[in-house]
Amino acid sequence: MSVREILLFPDRRLRMKAREVSEYSSQLAELAEDLLETMYAAPGIGLAATQLGIMKRIFVMDCSSEEEAGDPRVLVNPRIVWASEDKEKRDEGCLSLPGQFAEVTRPASVVMAYRDLQGESFEERLEGLWARCAQHELDHLDGKLFIHRISSVKRQIISRKAKKAVREASLNNSNPQKKKDGE
Ligand code: NI
Repeated sequence: MSVREILLFPDRRLRMKAREVSEYSSQLAELAEDLLETMYAAPGIGLAATQLGIMKRIFVMDCSSEEEAGDPRVLVNPRIVWASEDKEKRDEGCLSLPGQFAEVTRPASVVMAYRDLQGESFEERLEGLWARCAQHELDHLDGKLFIHRISSVKRQIISRKAKKAVREASLNNSNPQKKKDGE
């Protein structure tokens, strides 16, 4: 297992669409372990393979609270099969946009179909932060960031700030400060 480097906006690979997973190999299991280790180290509550520059449809998440035991989840080839009409507005962040946050409106609850690392199929209803995080990560697999779900004015402001932060970080030769709760 290893902690890998998370791509930062505006890296163009973050805009690429990932391909379906067809081989449930030990390599895929290793990727899932690296995703989890990288996510926990960040720290964050979700991470998609595209954020490591790997164009495979797999993401991990763990939205359990600090008081709860960890609940690491791996979703392969995830898709939304049902979304509630009920929408919710909530602040989102992203490990690829450290320090940037914006309110994003999404369905409050979704049913996601996915496979596990052995290729077995599941369907699961997700609520609250889990539903929010899963939708955010699924967007990553389609080359979409949370800033593509807000107004263009807000997107430009965040995009400018994020680019500046990346520039300053590379000048200081250190990583921009990462906030907890990043996805
Ligand atoms: Ni993200």
